[in-house]
Amino acid sequence: MSTTLVLGATGKTGRRVAARLRLRGLPVRAASRSSPTTFDWSDPAGWDRALRGATAVYLVPPTVPGPVHEFVARAEAAGVRRLVLLSGHAADTWGDSPFGRDMRSAEEAVRGSALEWTVLRAANFDQNFDEDLFHAPLVAGGLALPAGAVPEPFVDVEDVADVAAAVLAEPAGHAGRVHELTGPRALTFAEAVDLIGRAAGRPLTYEQVPADAYRAALVREGWDAGDADHVTAMFVLMERGVLAGTADGVAAVLGRAPRTFEDYALRAAAAGAWRSAPLPEGTR
Ligand SMILES: NC(=O)c1ccc[n+]([C@@H]2O[C@H](COP(=O)([O-])OP(=O)(O)OC[C@H]3O[C@@H](n4cnc5c(N)ncnc54)[C@H](OP(=O)(O)O)[C@@H]3O)[C@@H](O)[C@H]2O)c1
Repeated sequence: MSTTLVLGATGKTGRRVAARLRLRGLPVRAASRSSPTTFDWSDPAGWDRALRGATAVYLVPPTVPGPVHEFVARAEAAGVRRLVLLSGHAADTWGDSPFGRDMRSAEEAVRGSALEWTVLRAANFDQNFDEDLFHAPLVAGGLALPAGAVPEPFVDVEDVADVAAAVLAEPAGHAGRVHELTGPRALTFAEAVDLIGRAAGRPLTYEQVPADAYRAALVREGWDAGDADHVTAMFVLMERGVLAGTADGVAAVLGRAPRTFEDYALRAAAAGAWRSAPLPEGTR
């Protein structure tokens, strides 16, 4: 049976993709810097060992442009037949934005290869609110971002993983295809935070801040300047409105509607994602 190398296997999508493939009884090689199979984008010497015997790869790209070209060449040489790449929603509309050069470079490498490839272009994940960037500010009581009236068609990572697992397990019809993955409707960040607050039973605030103030706040929090630039550039791109539309990729692959943001907020709230931190002893 063919083995799928799952990169980013401890991350939001990779660990869910790996679990789905295992549940289907398919062999999985889970790889990342801290996974059973170690894989580091900055250490090409270890790539061939991770690729040995694999016939398909779920590819979560590195955060810098470039390495995927060499990785794809190594994958071809190792006998890999299929690549499923995670990219970003509407990547072909990002134009001169400095955002997402990593994902665009990875797309170029994968789409230019002789392998069977499929690109999954996902909108902002629902799970950014409880597993990533937006989580800590919400637990502290509110979110301040350079995003206003332009809505975002947030997608549930469970849907991204369902699509990736379906494409990897039943590849017929997906070779050479780009699937745009969004949720069923676009929400502003203020609407998303309001839904989360209601589901969590806490008053949570949302404030729109200027992009340069947001970037400066990230750097004050200790962010690397390049990472702060990258995230800020994403919001500047989103404000152009080109990413705001929904797409039918989830339904096209899975034959059902994508999960709603409300469904996500209920599940995460029930799991305690946004409980406020307990007050220190003696201050109650
Ligand atoms: N967040 C969103 O809304 C969104 C939307 C669309 C597309 N994307 C794209 O999705 C990708 C991130 O995917 P994700 O959210 O599933 O992952 P994630 O939760 O951000 O986790 C990153 C994964 O990559 C691994 N990793 C980090 N540095 C690595 C390195 N140097 N070499 C090898 N592996 C490394 C990490 O594991 P170790 O620490 O063990 O190495 C982890 O498994 C990015 O390319 C992002 O642009 C994100």
